[in-house]
Amino acid sequence: QIFGSERRNSKGINMNIAVESRTFFAKLDGFKETQWHAAPLIGGKTINCGEARTVTSPQDRRRSVGQVHFADAETIELAVKVANAAFPAWNRTGVDVRANAIEALADLLETHREELIALCTREAGKTLQDGIDEVREAVDFCRYYAVQARKMQGEPTVLPGPTGELNELFVQGRGTFLCISPWNFPLAIFLGQVVAALVTGNTVIAKPAEQTSLVAYRAVQLAHEAGVPGDVLALLPGTGALVGGTLTADDRIGGVCFTGSTQTAKVINRSLAGRDGAIVPLVAETGGQNAMVVDSTSLPEQVVKDVVQSAFASAGQRCSALRVLYVQEEVADKVIGLLKGAMAQLHVGNPALHKTDLGPVIDETAQGNLLAHIDRITEEGKLICQAPLSDECSNGTFIQPTAVEIHSITQLEKEHFGPILHVIRYRSSDLDQVVAEINSTGFGLTLGIHSRNESHALHIADRVNVGNAYINRNQIGAVVGVQPFGGQGLSGTGPKAGGPHYLTRFVTEKTRTNNI
Ligand code: NAD
Ligand code: ALA
Repeated sequence: QIFGSERRNSKGINMNIAVESRTFFAKLDGFKETQWHAAPLIGGKTINCGEARTVTSPQDRRRSVGQVHFADAETIELAVKVANAAFPAWNRTGVDVRANAIEALADLLETHREELIALCTREAGKTLQDGIDEVREAVDFCRYYAVQARKMQGEPTVLPGPTGELNELFVQGRGTFLCISPWNFPLAIFLGQVVAALVTGNTVIAKPAEQTSLVAYRAVQLAHEAGVPGDVLALLPGTGALVGGTLTADDRIGGVCFTGSTQTAKVINRSLAGRDGAIVPLVAETGGQNAMVVDSTSLPEQVVKDVVQSAFASAGQRCSALRVLYVQEEVADKVIGLLKGAMAQLHVGNPALHKTDLGPVIDETAQGNLLAHIDRITEEGKLICQAPLSDECSNGTFIQPTAVEIHSITQLEKEHFGPILHVIRYRSSDLDQVVAEINSTGFGLTLGIHSRNESHALHIADRVNVGNAYINRNQIGAVVGVQPFGGQGLSGTGPKAGGPHYLTRFVTEKTRTNNI
């Protein structure tokens, strides 16, 4: 996408151009056996505190990816002191200095693209395509927020006043921001949060998910190399309970940006509410119970293509992923028949192979929870199909993509974060009931609609409470600056990531009235 002369979205890799794909795979190959390292990074220094933990790949638990040291109480305290001390100077630095560093980071991410993709594949089990998209989105966040920050903070807004009086509105950073991210976008969401906070003048303590410290560490190293001072951006790999719990209760934290489960967002909200100090903002982007509504005017082949992509891409480990497919009964048999055929073609296996459609789920806990849900829901409902696992799956945490017919969304007591699609048939006369049922979950992240009747599609889109509604396409993969992304209700607070209002939550405003 091109936005005037302002910015372009990052380029992908065209695998159909032989020289492009050959170069890509040759570079990627160089990271096949690399062992990475991660530890707390404070003031630009790595602190190897505590025991080193071995990180293994979800694709094959026998294979090591590297080692990580988790932060302890002492390093957490040091990180807060250093970030707080660095805040006034960083906040006073002009927005251009900050935006230039973030744009330099975008360039460095592109230069180190293959290493970052290898990390996403080996540490997080992402497929190559997901790895490519992950780097592109991280780059897009950097460039987009740099542009937005320049617009917002470049010059104070001059406001009207009586003669002789100058009224100006300034937009500034808030202090030390705590950025807490999930493992499913270990680079894009991790960096999206961090650069939004940094570019607006905050110092940052970044706490990556336990499962993906290695990619986060590499990203922070690159940020420092790009010109973000070491004392302005700290990394604290570690547990949610210790690092997250300690810092959200700490009065010196000036704001929290969180992406993860709804449950954890509520814990953080309570922790912030219990502090004695200032009331600070919480940006929380959380889970979903995302539906797609397919009516009898839709094109079944197109529906199935978009359903498979929405439900099973990234092994269903996207907050935006389709969980509940409502199909009008007149087309249900046709759609389900095609779905079975499409699922039989999926290749589930080694994420580092170009042919793989689905890699593993993140770990044994996720695998166990998903298998338990499949057991329960296939007993209550009717199994439609399970795609086979290839023999590349024997030593990793894989789940067979599964489709099951159920009768109500209320059978799903929570978000099931993996490749499981629930199908519900509905009668056209029950459409308002379908809308009410989707809204009754309290979640509100993505919605898919397939219909060739525009007024019908818009009727549904207007009545379901969601942050992102997609008509006649898949419902994943929001593009920065094109589909600002984020939910409502149990799915998040907003403002939307990759949208024009996101940065407003990271700043505070000051009006100066001058009568000199
Ligand atoms: P999670 O809530 O388990 O963990 C997210 C982060 O919170 C991790 O870094 C974790 O260590 C930390 N954490 C855990 N307990 C904490 C505490 N008490 N205090 C502070 N921090 C704590 O989520 P996850 O399993 O890593 O990620 C998957 C979830 O994220 C899914 O629910 C998915 O829908 C959601 N998600 C949402 C979006 C979005 O944009 N809406 C994007 C990606 C993922
Ligand atoms: N932004 C991601 C998507 O749209 C979660 O799939």
